[in-house]
Amino acid sequence: MTPESPGTLRLTGVSKTFEDGTTALTGIDLTVAPGELVTLVGPSGCGKTTILRLAAGLIAPSEGELTVTADTTSFVFQDPTLLEWRTALRNVELVGELRHVPRAERRTRALEVLDAVGLADAAAKHPRQLSGGMRMRVSIARALVAQPDLALFDEPFGALDEITRLSLQTLLQDLFARAEFGALFITHSVNEAVYLSDRVLVMGQGRIAAEVAVPWPHPRPPELRYSAEFAAVAGRVSALLEEAS
Ligand SMILES: Nc1ncnc2c1ncn2[C@@H]1O[C@H](COP(=O)(O)OP(=O)(O)O)[C@@H](O)[C@H]1O
Ligand SMILES: [Mg+2]
Repeated sequence: MTPESPGTLRLTGVSKTFEDGTTALTGIDLTVAPGELVTLVGPSGCGKTTILRLAAGLIAPSEGELTVTADTTSFVFQDPTLLEWRTALRNVELVGELRHVPRAERRTRALEVLDAVGLADAAAKHPRQLSGGMRMRVSIARALVAQPDLALFDEPFGALDEITRLSLQTLLQDLFARAEFGALFITHSVNEAVYLSDRVLVMGQGRIAAEVAVPWPHPRPPELRYSAEFAAVAGRVSALLEEAS
């Protein structure tokens, strides 16, 4: 067998039953190829976070096989979990500190990444001085500074207002277009899924019920979200979502 390139996530026939007898997932087949952007959409309780926790190695499958070939995997959750006593810059630098990257190098790199997420001017601020959207940008910067080959996102924008959410989608779109990493992105927003990803996997009740390929190359202009062709794809995903639930 050929070894898979870094950044590959593969689940084959994966089921997960928890100790209390809850079966969260049944027969999940899923691949994220290097550099590919895949989203999972589905209603609350359908098993999205369980897939992410499996991919992160936090829990083990009950059945089936899971392989992650990433050298570095980064996570972004709904809660940015920043250290309140550190500035934005030092929150991002922490990743380098833990890896014993020399001080000058980790600072340069952290500043570059903060600039990439639009926070160059907020580097010296503490989390409490930042808005929810800015805190999420720091969280994204912290994920990127590790130079992951696989990034896992669990409803990162779920707690943000609509306008902030749209601007962060645009940011991620730009980052994805340049990125060298694959991503598994969880959301319950159909529009977010279609705008960001190459493939949308529609979930219902512990299964992947359908898959929709999204045709447009990255970076996708923000206005794409208001076009008729976009509405057609999003409409298809919504219909499949209704069928699956
Ligand atoms: N540790 C656990 N023990 C028992 N049941 C769990 C556990 N974690 C999740 N579940 C159950 O598994 C199902 C899927 O949960 P989850 O993956 O969090 O769904 P989602 O992220 O799509 O909302 C739900 O019924 C949830 O209650
Ligand atoms: Mg969840």
